[in-house]
Amino acid sequence: MSARIIDGKAIAEKVRGEVKEGVSAFQSTHGRVPGLDVILVGEHAPSVVYTRNKEKAALEVGIRGRLHRMPEATTQAELLAMVAALSADESVDGILIQLPLPKHIDERTVLLAIPPEKDVDGFHPINVGRLSTGQDALVPCTPLGSLRLLDEAGVNLKGANAIVIGRSNIVGKPMAQLLLSRDATVTIAHSRTSNLAGLCATMDVVIAAVGRAEMVKADWIKPGAAVIDVGINRIELADGKSRLVGDVAFAECKEVAGAITPVPGGVGPMTIAILLQNTLMAAKARARVSA
Ligand code: GUN
Repeated sequence: MSARIIDGKAIAEKVRGEVKEGVSAFQSTHGRVPGLDVILVGEHAPSVVYTRNKEKAALEVGIRGRLHRMPEATTQAELLAMVAALSADESVDGILIQLPLPKHIDERTVLLAIPPEKDVDGFHPINVGRLSTGQDALVPCTPLGSLRLLDEAGVNLKGANAIVIGRSNIVGKPMAQLLLSRDATVTIAHSRTSNLAGLCATMDVVIAAVGRAEMVKADWIKPGAAVIDVGINRIELADGKSRLVGDVAFAECKEVAGAITPVPGGVGPMTIAILLQNTLMAAKARARVSA
């Protein structure tokens, strides 16, 4: 039987609608709209597109979105000065520094400079610690969006066996924490995991976040399992064109899984929608503290 396809575009649209309503209510109560400031250093082509999309998406839900473009040659001190200015600006609720940064800038140092309450990416160690100790936290957008997809698909996580393939700080580790917080039994797999295919085939929930095109095959999937594909890989085709594929061999896995996300149109659209949700959440939390 063919799996239910989890429609990330439609669910992201629903999230944006919720945020739009929340922004409107926030404005009525506080007399201002939430503010999201995105910093892009350099000309990394995909980042230029992503950051423009983030600014545009913010404006569409009524958030004050601002993109700060800084030249490739920006020094670390100049970037830290920009972060300090936005940190001190009361109209700014969320600060996002687009990654990757140019090599001469130390990513850890600048991410640490973002106040945890404005860290809408959820990358600051304080937010990482808060998530892992079960406290309110700003949580990285892609894993939080993936969790929402599982919820919208009606997947029961309590007591489920879940595997996260990939151990990055941005996706794999926070995803595992989120699943654990929902009472799943969680395995984190990586490049040194032995018998990954056999292990994966025992799992009720599979989250693929490794960055290897179509690595997860149909015989890795337990019949009826829920499969969330976080990968976005561009593969070259014989005719010289290219195509986007995930970390999951979608065509074959959808014949075995119970529910599955496509690429594109699965996790991808959720990331920006959740960024907007995080910005609203940060604004509300800051308003509570200053009240
Ligand atoms: N670059 C690619 N994805 C992301 C993201 O989620 N946040 C930031 N800051 N940079 C990215």
